[in-house]
Amino acid sequence: MRVLVVGSGGREHVLVWKLMQSPRVTKLYCAPGNAGIAELAECTPIAADNIPALLNFALHNEIELTVVGPEVPLTLGIVDAFTAAGLTIFGPDQCAAQLEGSKVFAKQLMQKYQIPTATSRTFTVVEKALAYLKKQTAPIVVKADGLAAGKGVVVATTLAEAEAAVVRIMVEREFGHAGARVVIEEFLEGEEVSVLAFTDGETVVPMVSSQDHKAAFDNDTGPNTGGMGAYSPAPVLTDILLAQVEEEILQPTIKGLRAEGIIFKGVLYAGLMITASGPKVLEYNVRFGDPECQVVLPRLKSDLCAIMLAVINKNLSEQKIHWHDNHTACVVMASGGYPASYPKGKVIKGLIEAAELEDGYVFHAGTAKKGKNIVTNGGRVLGVTAWGDTLQSALDKAYLAVNIITFPGAHYRHDIGQKAIARTM
Ligand code: AMP
Ligand code: GLY
Repeated sequence: MRVLVVGSGGREHVLVWKLMQSPRVTKLYCAPGNAGIAELAECTPIAADNIPALLNFALHNEIELTVVGPEVPLTLGIVDAFTAAGLTIFGPDQCAAQLEGSKVFAKQLMQKYQIPTATSRTFTVVEKALAYLKKQTAPIVVKADGLAAGKGVVVATTLAEAEAAVVRIMVEREFGHAGARVVIEEFLEGEEVSVLAFTDGETVVPMVSSQDHKAAFDNDTGPNTGGMGAYSPAPVLTDILLAQVEEEILQPTIKGLRAEGIIFKGVLYAGLMITASGPKVLEYNVRFGDPECQVVLPRLKSDLCAIMLAVINKNLSEQKIHWHDNHTACVVMASGGYPASYPKGKVIKGLIEAAELEDGYVFHAGTAKKGKNIVTNGGRVLGVTAWGDTLQSALDKAYLAVNIITFPGAHYRHDIGQKAIARTM
Protein backbone atom coordinates (compact mmCIF):
# COMPACT_ATOMS: atom_id res chain seq x y z
CA MET A 1 0.00 0.00 0.00
CA ARG A 2 1.12 3.53 -0.74
CA VAL A 3 0.63 5.59 2.40
CA LEU A 4 0.77 9.36 3.02
CA VAL A 5 1.19 10.74 6.55
CA VAL A 6 0.19 14.41 7.00
CA GLY A 7 2.09 16.51 9.55
CA SER A 8 5.61 17.30 10.74
CA GLY A 9 5.92 16.58 14.46
CA GLY A 10 7.06 13.80 16.76
CA ARG A 11 3.61 12.29 16.36
CA GLU A 12 4.04 11.98 12.61
CA HIS A 13 7.54 10.55 13.02
CA VAL A 14 6.27 7.76 15.27
CA LEU A 15 3.33 7.17 12.91
CA VAL A 16 5.71 6.77 9.96
CA TRP A 17 8.04 4.56 12.06
CA LYS A 18 5.15 2.32 13.14
CA LEU A 19 3.49 2.15 9.70
CA MET A 20 6.84 1.16 8.19
CA GLN A 21 6.67 -2.03 10.27
CA SER A 22 3.44 -3.06 8.54
CA PRO A 23 3.76 -5.77 5.88
CA ARG A 24 0.98 -4.01 3.97
CA VAL A 25 2.91 -0.77 3.51
CA THR A 26 5.10 -0.66 0.40
CA LYS A 27 5.81 3.08 0.12
CA LEU A 28 5.57 5.92 2.62
CA TYR A 29 5.24 9.63 1.95
CA CYS A 30 5.01 12.47 4.45
CA ALA A 31 3.81 16.05 3.99
CA PRO A 32 5.69 18.08 5.01
CA GLY A 33 7.67 15.87 7.45
CA ASN A 34 10.95 16.77 9.17
CA ALA A 35 14.61 15.72 9.07
CA GLY A 36 14.00 12.50 11.01
CA ILE A 37 10.98 11.47 8.96
CA ALA A 38 12.98 12.10 5.77
CA GLU A 39 15.20 9.16 6.73
CA LEU A 40 12.20 6.80 6.60
CA ALA A 41 9.74 8.31 4.12
CA GLU A 42 9.73 10.49 1.04
CA CYS A 43 8.87 14.00 2.23
CA THR A 44 7.06 16.56 0.10
CA PRO A 45 7.00 20.22 1.14
CA ILE A 46 3.22 20.65 1.33
CA ALA A 47 1.86 22.29 4.49
CA ALA A 48 -0.45 20.11 6.60
CA ASP A 49 -3.34 22.57 6.16
CA ASN A 50 -3.05 22.96 2.38
CA ILE A 51 -5.88 20.56 1.59
CA PRO A 52 -6.15 21.20 -2.19
CA ALA A 53 -2.40 20.57 -2.64
CA LEU A 54 -2.50 17.45 -0.43
CA LEU A 55 -5.46 16.10 -2.40
CA ASN A 56 -3.67 16.76 -5.65
CA PHE A 57 -0.55 14.99 -4.35
CA ALA A 58 -2.55 11.97 -3.16
CA LEU A 59 -4.37 11.60 -6.48
CA HIS A 60 -1.22 12.08 -8.52
CA ASN A 61 0.83 9.59 -6.46
CA GLU A 62 -1.96 7.00 -6.20
CA ILE A 63 -2.00 7.12 -2.41
CA GLU A 64 -4.10 4.27 -1.02
CA LEU A 65 -4.21 5.42 2.61
CA THR A 66 -3.75 8.91 4.06
CA VAL A 67 -3.18 9.28 7.81
CA VAL A 68 -3.76 12.74 9.29
CA GLY A 69 -1.67 13.71 12.33
CA PRO A 70 -2.70 17.22 13.44
CA GLU A 71 -6.10 18.68 14.28
CA VAL A 72 -6.09 21.70 11.96
CA PRO A 73 -6.59 19.82 8.65
CA LEU A 74 -9.23 17.65 10.35
CA THR A 75 -11.24 20.68 11.46
CA LEU A 76 -10.79 22.17 7.97
CA GLY A 77 -12.43 19.08 6.46
CA ILE A 78 -9.54 17.15 4.89
CA VAL A 79 -11.37 13.86 5.46
CA ASP A 80 -14.51 15.13 3.72
CA ALA A 81 -12.46 16.38 0.73
CA PHE A 82 -10.46 13.15 0.34
CA THR A 83 -13.53 10.94 0.78
CA ALA A 84 -15.46 12.96 -1.82
CA ALA A 85 -12.57 12.32 -4.23
CA GLY A 86 -12.82 8.57 -3.60
CA LEU A 87 -9.67 8.34 -1.46
CA THR A 88 -9.17 6.33 1.74
CA ILE A 89 -8.23 8.50 4.73
CA PHE A 90 -7.88 7.92 8.48
CA GLY A 91 -9.42 10.52 10.78
CA PRO A 92 -12.77 12.03 11.72
CA ASP A 93 -14.73 14.19 9.28
CA GLN A 94 -15.21 17.93 9.81
CA CYS A 95 -18.43 17.49 11.75
CA ALA A 96 -16.89 14.99 14.20
CA ALA A 97 -13.70 17.09 14.50
CA GLN A 98 -15.77 19.83 16.19
CA LEU A 99 -15.27 17.82 19.36
CA GLU A 100 -11.77 19.34 19.46
CA GLY A 101 -12.42 22.38 17.25
CA SER A 102 -15.05 23.87 19.57
CA LYS A 103 -14.97 23.63 23.36
CA VAL A 104 -18.57 24.89 23.38
CA PHE A 105 -19.65 21.99 21.12
CA ALA A 106 -17.79 19.51 23.35
CA LYS A 107 -19.33 20.94 26.52
CA GLN A 108 -22.84 20.85 25.07
CA LEU A 109 -22.39 17.22 24.05
CA MET A 110 -21.12 16.27 27.51
CA GLN A 111 -24.00 18.07 29.21
CA LYS A 112 -26.61 16.50 26.95
CA TYR A 113 -25.29 12.95 27.40
CA GLN A 114 -24.29 13.28 31.07
CA ILE A 115 -20.59 12.71 30.49
CA PRO A 116 -18.65 13.71 33.63
CA THR A 117 -16.83 17.04 33.20
CA ALA A 118 -16.28 20.34 35.03
CA THR A 119 -19.41 22.46 35.39
CA SER A 120 -19.19 25.41 33.02
CA ARG A 121 -20.88 28.39 31.39
CA THR A 122 -20.43 29.67 27.84
CA PHE A 123 -20.35 33.38 26.96
CA THR A 124 -20.49 35.29 23.68
CA VAL A 125 -20.69 38.75 25.31
CA VAL A 126 -17.62 39.93 27.20
CA GLU A 127 -19.55 42.03 29.78
CA LYS A 128 -21.62 39.01 30.74
CA ALA A 129 -18.52 36.86 31.15
CA LEU A 130 -16.91 39.51 33.38
CA ALA A 131 -20.09 39.96 35.45
CA TYR A 132 -20.30 36.18 35.95
CA LEU A 133 -16.66 36.03 37.07
CA LYS A 134 -17.33 38.63 39.80
CA LYS A 135 -19.59 36.10 41.53
CA GLN A 136 -17.12 33.21 41.30
CA THR A 137 -14.09 32.21 43.35
CA ALA A 138 -10.59 31.34 42.18
CA PRO A 139 -9.01 29.11 41.03
CA ILE A 140 -11.15 29.06 37.91
CA VAL A 141 -10.52 28.09 34.29
CA VAL A 142 -11.05 30.25 31.17
CA LYS A 143 -11.01 28.63 27.72
CA ALA A 144 -11.20 30.10 24.23
CA ASP A 145 -13.82 28.18 22.23
CA GLY A 146 -11.73 27.45 19.13
CA LEU A 147 -8.32 26.01 18.32
CA ALA A 148 -5.43 27.94 19.84
CA ALA A 149 -2.49 25.52 19.51
CA GLY A 150 -2.87 24.43 23.13
CA LYS A 151 -2.56 28.01 24.41
CA GLY A 152 -6.23 28.95 24.71
CA VAL A 153 -6.69 27.65 28.27
CA VAL A 154 -5.89 29.74 31.35
CA VAL A 155 -6.00 28.14 34.78
CA ALA A 156 -6.40 31.37 36.77
CA THR A 157 -5.33 31.44 40.40
CA THR A 158 -7.02 34.80 41.00
CA LEU A 159 -10.20 36.39 39.62
CA ALA A 160 -8.10 39.29 38.29
CA GLU A 161 -6.12 36.79 36.23
CA ALA A 162 -9.34 35.20 34.94
CA GLU A 163 -10.75 38.63 33.98
CA ALA A 164 -7.53 39.48 32.16
CA ALA A 165 -7.76 36.18 30.28
CA VAL A 166 -11.35 36.92 29.20
CA VAL A 167 -10.25 40.33 27.90
CA ARG A 168 -7.25 38.89 26.06
CA ILE A 169 -9.36 36.17 24.45
CA MET A 170 -12.60 38.06 23.68
CA VAL A 171 -11.53 41.70 23.25
CA GLU A 172 -7.92 41.63 22.16
CA ARG A 173 -8.62 38.45 20.19
CA GLU A 174 -5.26 36.91 21.02
CA PHE A 175 -6.43 33.73 19.26
CA GLY A 176 -8.49 35.47 16.57
CA HIS A 177 -11.94 34.03 15.87
CA ALA A 178 -11.25 31.17 18.33
CA GLY A 179 -12.03 33.78 21.02
CA ALA A 180 -15.51 34.72 19.80
CA ARG A 181 -16.84 32.61 22.67
CA VAL A 182 -15.33 31.61 26.01
CA VAL A 183 -16.05 28.75 28.35
CA ILE A 184 -15.57 29.50 32.05
CA GLU A 185 -15.35 26.35 34.10
CA GLU A 186 -14.84 24.91 37.51
CA PHE A 187 -11.24 24.12 38.49
CA LEU A 188 -10.76 20.37 38.88
CA GLU A 189 -8.19 18.95 41.24
CA GLY A 190 -6.43 15.65 40.72
CA GLU A 191 -3.94 13.88 38.48
CA GLU A 192 -4.22 14.06 34.70
CA VAL A 193 -4.16 11.10 32.36
CA SER A 194 -4.69 10.68 28.62
CA VAL A 195 -6.79 7.87 27.21
CA LEU A 196 -6.65 7.45 23.46
CA ALA A 197 -9.01 5.07 21.71
CA PHE A 198 -9.51 3.73 18.21
CA THR A 199 -13.13 3.98 17.14
CA ASP A 200 -15.09 3.31 13.97
CA GLY A 201 -18.12 5.19 15.28
CA GLU A 202 -19.56 2.09 16.93
CA THR A 203 -16.80 0.00 18.52
CA VAL A 204 -14.39 1.79 20.87
CA VAL A 205 -11.02 0.19 21.68
CA PRO A 206 -8.92 2.09 24.24
CA MET A 207 -5.16 2.08 23.79
CA VAL A 208 -2.77 1.69 26.71
CA SER A 209 -2.81 4.68 29.10
CA SER A 210 -0.27 7.49 29.14
CA GLN A 211 0.49 10.66 31.03
CA ASP A 212 1.60 13.90 29.43
CA HIS A 213 3.66 16.64 31.18
CA LYS A 214 2.07 19.88 30.02
CA ALA A 215 3.97 22.45 32.09
CA ALA A 216 7.26 23.72 30.67
CA PHE A 217 9.44 23.17 33.72
CA ASP A 218 10.12 20.63 36.49
CA ASN A 219 7.51 20.07 39.22
CA ASP A 220 4.75 21.24 36.85
CA THR A 221 5.88 24.86 36.97
CA GLY A 222 5.94 27.42 34.16
CA PRO A 223 3.53 27.93 31.26
CA ASN A 224 1.59 25.15 29.54
CA THR A 225 3.17 23.65 26.42
CA GLY A 226 2.09 21.11 23.83
CA GLY A 227 3.66 18.50 26.13
CA MET A 228 7.21 18.12 27.48
CA GLY A 229 7.26 14.36 27.89
CA ALA A 230 5.15 11.30 28.54
CA TYR A 231 5.22 7.74 29.82
CA SER A 232 3.06 4.64 29.50
CA PRO A 233 1.34 2.96 31.26
CA ALA A 234 0.10 5.58 33.73
CA PRO A 235 -0.58 3.73 37.02
CA VAL A 236 -3.04 6.44 38.13
CA LEU A 237 -5.44 4.79 35.68
CA THR A 238 -6.18 1.49 37.39
CA ASP A 239 -8.15 -1.24 35.58
CA ILE A 240 -11.23 -0.24 37.55
CA LEU A 241 -10.87 3.40 36.53
CA LEU A 242 -10.26 2.43 32.91
CA ALA A 243 -13.48 0.40 32.89
CA GLN A 244 -15.27 3.44 34.33
CA VAL A 245 -13.74 5.70 31.65
CA GLU A 246 -14.91 3.33 28.93
CA GLU A 247 -18.41 3.06 30.28
CA GLU A 248 -19.02 6.63 31.45
CA ILE A 249 -16.92 8.62 28.98
CA LEU A 250 -15.69 6.92 25.80
CA GLN A 251 -18.79 4.89 24.91
CA PRO A 252 -21.30 7.65 25.75
CA THR A 253 -19.26 10.17 23.72
CA ILE A 254 -19.34 8.02 20.58
CA LYS A 255 -22.97 7.04 21.19
CA GLY A 256 -23.96 10.65 21.87
CA LEU A 257 -22.32 11.79 18.65
CA ARG A 258 -24.13 9.01 16.80
CA ALA A 259 -27.43 10.20 18.24
CA GLU A 260 -26.55 13.63 16.80
CA GLY A 261 -26.00 12.00 13.40
CA ILE A 262 -22.19 12.12 13.65
CA ILE A 263 -20.11 8.99 13.02
CA PHE A 264 -16.68 9.46 14.58
CA LYS A 265 -13.99 7.40 12.84
CA GLY A 266 -10.38 7.74 13.97
CA VAL A 267 -8.64 8.33 17.28
CA LEU A 268 -10.66 9.81 20.12
CA TYR A 269 -8.44 11.30 22.81
CA ALA A 270 -9.94 12.01 26.21
CA GLY A 271 -7.84 14.28 28.41
CA LEU A 272 -9.01 13.37 31.91
CA MET A 273 -8.64 14.61 35.46
CA ILE A 274 -8.85 11.79 38.01
CA THR A 275 -10.73 13.67 40.73
CA ALA A 276 -11.87 12.49 44.15
CA SER A 277 -15.30 11.88 42.58
CA GLY A 278 -13.99 9.94 39.59
CA PRO A 279 -12.59 10.67 36.13
CA LYS A 280 -13.80 13.86 34.41
CA VAL A 281 -13.17 15.14 30.89
CA LEU A 282 -10.87 18.17 30.61
CA GLU A 283 -10.81 18.13 26.84
CA TYR A 284 -11.29 15.96 23.80
CA ASN A 285 -8.85 15.73 20.95
CA VAL A 286 -9.74 14.06 17.67
CA ARG A 287 -6.29 12.65 16.88
CA PHE A 288 -3.26 11.03 18.48
CA GLY A 289 -1.81 13.14 21.30
CA ASP A 290 1.76 14.32 21.01
CA PRO A 291 3.96 13.29 22.88
CA GLU A 292 1.51 10.61 24.11
CA CYS A 293 1.63 8.66 20.86
CA GLN A 294 5.41 8.49 21.11
CA VAL A 295 5.00 6.29 24.19
CA VAL A 296 1.79 4.51 23.15
CA LEU A 297 2.58 3.37 19.59
CA PRO A 298 5.94 1.70 20.42
CA ARG A 299 3.90 -0.55 22.75
CA LEU A 300 1.52 -1.60 19.96
CA LYS A 301 2.22 -5.17 18.87
CA SER A 302 -0.44 -5.30 16.16
CA ASP A 303 -0.31 -3.89 12.65
CA LEU A 304 -1.29 -0.19 12.83
CA CYS A 305 -2.18 -0.11 9.15
CA ALA A 306 -4.65 -3.00 9.58
CA ILE A 307 -6.27 -1.26 12.57
CA MET A 308 -6.63 1.99 10.62
CA LEU A 309 -8.26 0.18 7.70
CA ALA A 310 -10.65 -1.57 10.10
CA VAL A 311 -11.63 1.83 11.53
CA ILE A 312 -12.26 3.24 8.06
CA ASN A 313 -14.19 0.15 6.93
CA LYS A 314 -16.21 0.05 10.16
CA ASN A 315 -15.16 -3.44 11.20
CA LEU A 316 -13.02 -2.59 14.22
CA SER A 317 -14.94 -5.15 16.33
CA GLU A 318 -13.31 -7.92 14.26
CA GLN A 319 -9.79 -6.57 14.79
CA LYS A 320 -7.55 -8.06 17.48
CA ILE A 321 -5.32 -5.40 19.05
CA HIS A 322 -2.36 -6.53 21.15
CA TRP A 323 0.09 -4.52 23.26
CA HIS A 324 3.57 -5.15 24.65
CA ASP A 325 3.60 -5.56 28.39
CA ASN A 326 6.49 -3.08 28.84
CA HIS A 327 7.01 0.56 29.88
CA THR A 328 7.91 3.52 27.70
CA ALA A 329 9.15 7.04 28.42
CA CYS A 330 9.61 10.08 26.20
CA VAL A 331 11.58 13.20 27.12
CA VAL A 332 10.97 16.21 24.89
CA MET A 333 13.98 18.40 24.15
CA ALA A 334 12.76 21.92 23.34
CA SER A 335 14.28 25.12 21.93
CA GLY A 336 15.38 27.79 24.41
CA GLY A 337 12.41 30.11 25.01
CA TYR A 338 9.70 27.58 24.10
CA PRO A 339 6.67 27.81 24.60
CA ALA A 340 7.25 31.55 24.01
CA SER A 341 9.38 32.70 21.06
CA TYR A 342 12.55 30.76 20.28
CA PRO A 343 15.36 30.80 17.73
CA LYS A 344 15.61 28.27 14.88
CA GLY A 345 18.57 26.86 12.97
CA LYS A 346 20.67 25.69 15.95
CA VAL A 347 22.88 22.74 15.05
CA ILE A 348 21.93 19.49 16.85
CA LYS A 349 24.83 17.24 17.84
CA GLY A 350 24.95 13.68 19.16
CA LEU A 351 22.05 12.23 17.14
CA ILE A 352 24.17 9.47 15.59
CA GLU A 353 25.63 8.45 18.95
CA ALA A 354 22.19 8.50 20.60
CA ALA A 355 20.76 6.32 17.82
CA GLU A 356 23.23 3.58 18.76
CA LEU A 357 21.62 3.13 22.19
CA GLU A 358 19.39 0.07 22.47
CA ASP A 359 15.67 -0.04 23.24
CA GLY A 360 14.90 3.46 22.16
CA TYR A 361 14.32 5.84 19.30
CA VAL A 362 14.82 9.57 18.87
CA PHE A 363 11.66 10.90 17.24
CA HIS A 364 12.10 14.26 15.54
CA ALA A 365 9.60 17.14 15.86
CA GLY A 366 10.95 20.59 14.88
CA THR A 367 14.06 19.61 12.92
CA ALA A 368 15.33 20.37 9.42
CA LYS A 369 18.31 19.40 7.32
CA LYS A 370 20.73 22.24 6.54
CA GLY A 371 23.70 21.16 4.47
CA LYS A 372 25.29 18.27 6.34
CA ASN A 373 23.72 19.28 9.66
CA ILE A 374 20.39 18.65 11.32
CA VAL A 375 19.19 21.92 12.88
CA THR A 376 16.35 23.01 15.14
CA ASN A 377 13.23 24.17 13.30
CA GLY A 378 10.49 24.40 15.93
CA GLY A 379 9.64 24.72 19.63
CA ARG A 380 9.60 21.04 20.47
CA VAL A 381 12.67 19.63 18.72
CA LEU A 382 13.04 15.95 19.67
CA GLY A 383 11.07 13.28 21.54
CA VAL A 384 13.74 11.04 23.03
CA THR A 385 11.92 7.77 23.67
CA ALA A 386 12.98 4.49 25.26
CA TRP A 387 11.40 1.30 26.56
CA GLY A 388 12.14 -1.32 29.21
CA ASP A 389 10.69 -3.81 31.66
CA THR A 390 10.15 -1.06 34.21
CA LEU A 391 9.42 2.64 33.95
CA GLN A 392 12.72 3.36 35.71
CA SER A 393 14.73 1.45 33.09
CA ALA A 394 12.87 3.22 30.27
CA LEU A 395 13.57 6.58 31.91
CA ASP A 396 17.24 5.75 32.49
CA LYS A 397 17.71 4.89 28.81
CA ALA A 398 15.82 7.98 27.60
CA TYR A 399 17.86 10.34 29.82
CA LEU A 400 21.09 8.63 28.76
CA ALA A 401 20.29 9.59 25.17
CA VAL A 402 19.16 13.09 26.20
CA ASN A 403 22.56 13.62 27.82
CA ILE A 404 24.33 12.73 24.58
CA ILE A 405 22.30 15.11 22.41
CA THR A 406 23.10 18.83 22.51
CA PHE A 407 22.02 22.05 20.82
CA PRO A 408 22.41 25.65 22.05
CA GLY A 409 19.59 26.67 24.41
CA ALA A 410 18.09 23.16 24.69
CA HIS A 411 15.78 22.63 27.65
CA TYR A 412 13.92 19.60 28.90
CA ARG A 413 12.22 18.39 32.05
CA HIS A 414 14.22 16.27 34.46
CA ASP A 415 11.21 14.78 36.22
CA ILE A 416 9.34 12.85 33.52
CA GLY A 417 7.51 9.88 35.06
CA GLN A 418 8.19 10.87 38.66
CA LYS A 419 4.48 10.85 39.61
CA ALA A 420 4.33 7.19 38.61
CA ILE A 421 7.62 6.34 40.34
CA ALA A 422 6.30 7.98 43.53
CA ARG A 423 3.20 5.77 43.39
CA THR A 424 5.26 2.61 43.44
CA MET A 425 7.30 3.69 46.47
P1 AMP B 1 -7.34 21.64 27.79
O1 AMP B 1 -6.71 22.10 26.49
O2 AMP B 1 -8.78 21.98 27.91
O3 AMP B 1 -7.01 20.22 28.14
O4 AMP B 1 -6.55 22.42 28.91
C1 AMP B 1 -5.15 22.42 28.98
C2 AMP B 1 -4.72 22.10 30.39
O5 AMP B 1 -5.30 23.02 31.31
C3 AMP B 1 -5.17 20.74 30.88
O6 AMP B 1 -4.32 19.72 30.47
C4 AMP B 1 -5.15 20.94 32.38
O7 AMP B 1 -3.83 20.86 32.88
C5 AMP B 1 -5.62 22.36 32.52
N1 AMP B 1 -7.09 22.40 32.72
C6 AMP B 1 -8.04 22.49 31.76
N2 AMP B 1 -9.27 22.49 32.31
C7 AMP B 1 -9.10 22.40 33.64
C8 AMP B 1 -9.99 22.35 34.76
N3 AMP B 1 -11.32 22.44 34.62
N4 AMP B 1 -9.45 22.24 35.99
C9 AMP B 1 -8.12 22.18 36.15
N5 AMP B 1 -7.23 22.23 35.15
C10 AMP B 1 -7.70 22.34 33.90
N1 GLY C 1 -0.16 16.36 24.41
C1 GLY C 1 -1.41 16.96 24.25
C2 GLY C 1 -1.91 17.04 22.89
O1 GLY C 1 -1.50 16.34 22.00
O2 GLY C 1 -2.81 17.84 22.66
